[in-house]
Amino acid sequence: MTSIVDSPDLDRAGAPDDPMLPRRYRIARTRQDTRDTFTLLLEPVDGPPMDYLPGQFTMLDAFGVGEVPISISGDPTLRGPLEHTIRDVGVVTHALITAPAGTLVGVRGPFGTSWDVSDGEGRDVVFVAGGIGLAPMRAAMLEVIAHREKYNRVVLLYGVRTPEDLLFGDELRTWAHDNGVVVEVTVDNGQHAWRGKVGLVTQLVPRAGFDPRNTLALVCGPEVMMRYVASALVDRGVPEERIRMSMERNMKCGVGLCGHCQLREVFVCVDGPVLTYDRLSPLLSCREL
Ligand SMILES: Cc1cc2nc3c(=O)[nH]c(=O)nc-3n(C[C@H](O)[C@H](O)[C@H](O)COP(=O)(O)OP(=O)(O)OC[C@H]3O[C@@H](n4cnc5c(N)ncnc54)[C@H](O)[C@@H]3O)c2cc1C
Ligand code: FES
Repeated sequence: MTSIVDSPDLDRAGAPDDPMLPRRYRIARTRQDTRDTFTLLLEPVDGPPMDYLPGQFTMLDAFGVGEVPISISGDPTLRGPLEHTIRDVGVVTHALITAPAGTLVGVRGPFGTSWDVSDGEGRDVVFVAGGIGLAPMRAAMLEVIAHREKYNRVVLLYGVRTPEDLLFGDELRTWAHDNGVVVEVTVDNGQHAWRGKVGLVTQLVPRAGFDPRNTLALVCGPEVMMRYVASALVDRGVPEERIRMSMERNMKCGVGLCGHCQLREVFVCVDGPVLTYDRLSPLLSCREL
C-alpha cells in the first residue's frame, strides 16, 4: 500500500470526534472524466463509510502536500465508495489525481450545508451548472432521480467551454432518456464535430421549460456565471429565496475557526457552501481573504 507520508496517529476507527483530525481513506480507483478532471473513489481504511448530504464537501488531504475542500460528487442513495470529482488546477489537486490506487489520503468532514432538494418536491427543479460545477450537483440530481415521482419538471442547463470538457456524458444521456430530465448543453467554443448549442449557459435560462413561480433552482459554477444566471432566473420570476448557489472560497479549517472563507458575516464553510441568493446577492462582490 502506498502512502504519501506515514500517519500513524491517524490509525483510528470510525469518524473522529475532532473535526480537525482526518480519517484515512484509500484510493480504490481513479477515473478520468475529461482531459483535466478525474473522479477519486475512496474507501475508508477503518470504520463505516461516511454519511453525507448532497452539496456537502470534505477537506481532502494529500499527506505531505496539502489539504483542499472538494465537494462530494457520489450517489447519496448508495453506500459505495466516497466520490470526489477534481479538476487538476494546482499543487494539491494534482497530487490527488495522480496518486496511484492504494494511496492513503486524509478526509475530514462532511462539512457545510446541503442543496436540500426535497424543498423542490411538488415543484419544477432547475439545475444550472458551469464546467466542473456539475460535480457538486451530481448528488442532488441523483437524489431527485431516486424520488423522481415527487418532482414536476426536472431541467439541467449545462454550459462548458468545449465539448471535450463535458462531464459525466454517459450519465447525461441516461438522465435524459431514462429519468425524464430535460438536459440542455451549450458550449462556449463549438469547433470540431459539435452539432449542439453554442453560447453561454445564461442564454438557456429565458427559454427553458419550467414554471418560474413554482421552481427550485440550483446553480453551481464560476462566480461570475452564477451571478448572471441568478439574475436571469430572477428576471423570469423565480423568487430569490428559491435560488441556491454553491460558493467557493479559500478554506483552511472547514469548521468556522480560521476565518479564511469569510464573506462579511457569512462563513462559507459552515453557513454554506450552499446559500440562497437572497442572502448572497449583497455579498457576491466581497473579495477573498
Ligand atoms: C466548498 C468547496 C467545494 C469545492 N469543490 C470542488 C470540486 O468538487 N472539485 C474541484 O475540482 N474543486 C473544488 N473546489 C475548488 C478546490 O478546492 C480548488 O481547486 C483547490 O483548493 C485548488 O488547490 P490546489 O492546491 O490544487 O491549487 P493551488 O496551488 O492553490 O492553485 C493553483 C492555481 O490554480 C488557481 N485555482 C485555485 N483554485 C481554482 C479553481 N477552483 N478554479 C480555477 N483555478 C483555480 C489558483 O488561483 C492558482 O493560480 C471546491 C472549493 C470549495 C471551497
Ligand atoms: S475555512 Fe476556516 S472559517 Fe471557514
